[in-house]
Amino acid sequence: MYASPALTESYARNWFEDQAMTTMAQDVLKGLTADQKYIPSKYFYDARGSKLFEVICGLPEYYPTRTELRLLSTHASDIVRGLRQGDLVELGAGANWKIRTLLDALGPRRRAEVGYIPVDVCGPALLESAAQLTTVYPEVRVKGMVADFTCDLHRLQSDRPKVVLFFGSTIGNLDESEALAFLQDVTAMLKPGDRFILGLDMVKPVELLEAAYNDSQDVTAEFNKNILLVINRGLRATFNPAGFDHVAFFNEQQERVEMHLRARRDMCVEVEDLNISVTLKKGETVLTEICRKFRRDGAEKMIRDAGLEVSRWYSDRKGWFSLLEAGLDRPRPRESAKIIAIP
Ligand code: AVI
Repeated sequence: MYASPALTESYARNWFEDQAMTTMAQDVLKGLTADQKYIPSKYFYDARGSKLFEVICGLPEYYPTRTELRLLSTHASDIVRGLRQGDLVELGAGANWKIRTLLDALGPRRRAEVGYIPVDVCGPALLESAAQLTTVYPEVRVKGMVADFTCDLHRLQSDRPKVVLFFGSTIGNLDESEALAFLQDVTAMLKPGDRFILGLDMVKPVELLEAAYNDSQDVTAEFNKNILLVINRGLRATFNPAGFDHVAFFNEQQERVEMHLRARRDMCVEVEDLNISVTLKKGETVLTEICRKFRRDGAEKMIRDAGLEVSRWYSDRKGWFSLLEAGLDRPRPRESAKIIAIP
């Protein structure tokens, strides 16, 4: 599966798939037995879900991708400034439109010495994207890693200088404590001089936010329902996607868009691998995704709480989307220990 020339060296392991299945069983058991039933949003992304998400990114109502891309094209040289003999590590990589702006800004000489490490839970999407990339930039060394960035970042330790990228406001799909834990893992990966670039979707008028998650072509509805097919396949469950409505709205109090699947009638779903039957009343919902929207103050506090310091902030004129740059705010304990050890 990982024989593509694009993945010159791959960290992908078979055990990742087994481990992922065990984690899925635990996650879904917890989610479907909670008061507000939920399924973690990372289960959207099988090959079909990843493709549907790519289509969403190009929809007229879904402003985040094009706004972030514009920001990246404008500031690409600044983002990759000084990076030599190091790596661009992209967490939750998906399609490769965004990284191309940075590879273009590097120019051919630096491209040949900088490695690109895309990290994604979806192996097939990772392979396809890496293969496309090496066709366009044959000099780039791509080293893909199939991993869940919420728990596998320790596998990415390296001494090479790096710029870690987390685009798309995917951090908004994590709740506050998950986001903090994730950012602390990023902090642990960074060495002095390394940079972290984070894409953030900002709070904006509710009509714009709700339109972005209720597109007129119903691609987001299809994407939402795809999660049920992933669970059916992974855990031998009997969800019927046609029995659910897609619901997405902005929760003003929590400043987040919520996506739910609402049962159209009373139903009972068997989940064979978990040995449970789940009953849903007509109108009851399963929460499938939170998409938190940010304000600058809150975002900077979240970064500081994780032990990082914001060094730059890029935003479009309307303030719809932002990219922040952060780095270590002080030497890591390991670094100070090193200094103390000098005789
Ligand atoms: C991946 N993530 C940042 C998207 C978002 O906007 O929260 C996922 C998405 N869900 C529905 N549309 C897009």
